[in-house]
Amino acid sequence: MSMYRHLEAHPIAGALGAEIRGIDLSQPLSDEAFDEVQAALHEHLVIFFRDQHLTPEQHIHFSARFGDLLEVPFVRALEGYPTILPVMKGKAESKKRLFGGLWHTDMSYTQEPPLGSALYGRVIPPYGGDTMWANMYRAYESLSDRLKQILDGLNAVHSPARSYGAGGAVVNNGDPADKMDVRTDERATNEVIHPVVRVHPATGKKALYVNSTYTVRFEGMTQEESEPLLQFLYQHAGRPEFTCRFRWTPGSLALWDNRCTQHLAMNDYDGFDREMHRTTISGERPLAASARLQSL
Ligand code: SIN
Repeated sequence: MSMYRHLEAHPIAGALGAEIRGIDLSQPLSDEAFDEVQAALHEHLVIFFRDQHLTPEQHIHFSARFGDLLEVPFVRALEGYPTILPVMKGKAESKKRLFGGLWHTDMSYTQEPPLGSALYGRVIPPYGGDTMWANMYRAYESLSDRLKQILDGLNAVHSPARSYGAGGAVVNNGDPADKMDVRTDERATNEVIHPVVRVHPATGKKALYVNSTYTVRFEGMTQEESEPLLQFLYQHAGRPEFTCRFRWTPGSLALWDNRCTQHLAMNDYDGFDREMHRTTISGERPLAASARLQSL
């Protein structure tokens, strides 16, 4: 257990993730307490707070300490709260489609992907509906030196098309049978380029930065040429020893660093409702591992 003055951090797995005790997120945090929360996030990459009683305003207030909050494209926000993304699945909904159900980093299809997100559990199934995270520092560090060197010099193209394009995996065009309202629009064909290995601006560590939901190909290569190495990297990034798994209880909040993790929502709670609120914190353009790419 790491020692802090204002909180306790209890790791939940060897790779990443810690439960934080001693913090009430409904109250404004002192600067010292906030600095410790931020330090715990940098140390553990995803941190969990249980038994919090948060209004949407308190959720927004806490998240906004880390940066401006983003309005998430394609998905209808919570009524009256443009920066709260309701992540919901009802008991009668199709088991095929699940928002966030494959490994991803949030919104890597944007030029400046989010720093992180804060997901608050409101309605939790009696079993199932856990979320998993994976440590992308570990994923990078455990590769061979030669492959690291190759990846350090590559960029990849990211796009929302597979999820949010016409017929995309989570698009439902406001189907009244579904609780979420996810619609495609012209932004779904956008492509952006990011380094395959990014340097975390606060820790200076290198993290693998490709994901199976939004990465399309390596820059300068065809999809066919890219696919074998990308598939290896996706599988490698999700190796069980790089992950943690969080069992939600109502009132839990998970705060993750989107720059050095991937996450996935488990689709295993058919017949039960699950309702979460997510805020998404703005980030910066990913820094490349090699100076040559940084100038692009
Ligand atoms: C997400 O990908 O932001 C949602 C994760 C979850 O529902 O557990």
